[in-house]
Amino acid sequence: MPYKPVDSETVAALRSVCGDAYVMTDRPGMEPFSHDYTEDLVFYPEVVVRPRTTAEVQAVMRLAYARDIPVTPRGGGTGLSGGALPIHGGILLSIDRMNAILEIDTENMMGVLEPGVITQVYQEAVEAQGLFYPPDPASKGSCTMGGNVAECAGGPRAAKYGVTRDWIYALDVVMPDGRLVRTGSQCLKDVTGYNLTQLFVGSEGTLGVVTQITTRLMTLPPFRQTLLIAFATMEQALATVVEIFRRGYQPSACEFMERAAIQVAIAQKGAKVPHADAEAQLLIEVDGFDLDLVENTLLAIGELAMENEAVEVTVAQQPGQQKTLWDIRRACGEAVKSISIYKEEDAVVPRKHIVTLMRGVQAITKEHGITAICYGHAGDGNIHINILKMDMTDHDWNERLPGGITAIFELVVSLGGRISGEHGIGYTQRPYLPIALSSDELDVMRQIKAALDPKGLLNPDKIFI
Ligand code: LAC
Ligand code: ZN
Repeated sequence: MPYKPVDSETVAALRSVCGDAYVMTDRPGMEPFSHDYTEDLVFYPEVVVRPRTTAEVQAVMRLAYARDIPVTPRGGGTGLSGGALPIHGGILLSIDRMNAILEIDTENMMGVLEPGVITQVYQEAVEAQGLFYPPDPASKGSCTMGGNVAECAGGPRAAKYGVTRDWIYALDVVMPDGRLVRTGSQCLKDVTGYNLTQLFVGSEGTLGVVTQITTRLMTLPPFRQTLLIAFATMEQALATVVEIFRRGYQPSACEFMERAAIQVAIAQKGAKVPHADAEAQLLIEVDGFDLDLVENTLLAIGELAMENEAVEVTVAQQPGQQKTLWDIRRACGEAVKSISIYKEEDAVVPRKHIVTLMRGVQAITKEHGITAICYGHAGDGNIHINILKMDMTDHDWNERLPGGITAIFELVVSLGGRISGEHGIGYTQRPYLPIALSSDELDVMRQIKAALDPKGLLNPDKIFI
């Protein structure tokens, strides 16, 4: 579909919708909106708009629809698959000003908020009321709830509490032509028509622009303790993970870091951990409402790790110690990014196959002459495989990378896995989608896109090639 350029008359119309201060066309002003956290990709929009209300978003969409201008919605810009990159220029629609928490209902245990609220800000606001919103992507301090909904963000606590989709009751969504659709309700049960809420969650900003979110909340568990466990081999670490769940323990996080991952993270943080040279580390958190149960579960998991020949189990009972360990884990992504140009893969496999995946990645990277650093959410089988360019020439990098990634994803799919667990397909993973989905499955998805966005204006060139 041929897109139309943003002319000065369109800019003037956008200014009258959002206000002069919230429409930008100058390059320095648009620079922060020209990239997200994905590799080193840069795409400039023609104009950035920062609406404040749902009505303004509707007006922007109507205007773009009438003029055949592409629109790319953007939350915090922390995405790792290029979902917020304005590939075709056009209008970049930032939701950052729509950042009010509208309601925290302690009786019905739900919250209503605008999409630009930073995830951690929402978490802290509900925690101040004794409530809990568990999904906690590593970027929680700067990502937005709207972006989390668009990508169906995960994070460590998914091991116990599920991902963003499991916490969304209802959405207000502005369609590409400007119509406002309210999906779902504030009810725990609801089969009133198709489940549009879940169609939009994880649709990567390609079907509609979310302008209001209603989340489920739960009571905040008061007790939380953490273990860091070093293992001489990945086999021992990952067998421990499988056994933790098989025995009925339900850690609130069960993270995995291979040696290279923890080493880059501690180097960046200037931190120390016991046995940083061990092949694998598990970072395990247990939370709950009963201190004895939390402590006993932690103890039992520690003993189980020792049965699996752990090198050392470090218990972090104090919040300060826990924070240090979590800072290290959360630093893995940034630390990897700081040492080299890299390409991140976000594979997910059934939990028992992580070890096969890890050893397979080692064999594949060796065969293709590339290096990778892996870490991730072992509790739910979601491993981030970061392929590093290091001192490789551009020619070798471009030559070797696609074959290596294809081989990794073919292995993932052969293990019953999927090519993205939480970062989305976005712009960068599109070439690999056919490894995981059949042509019929892709067709059905494309039909949904065509039905809801017939002009293909909303976040074009994402998910599908
Ligand atoms: C993490 C991000 C990269 O788990 O998803 O650190
Ligand atoms: Zn992650």
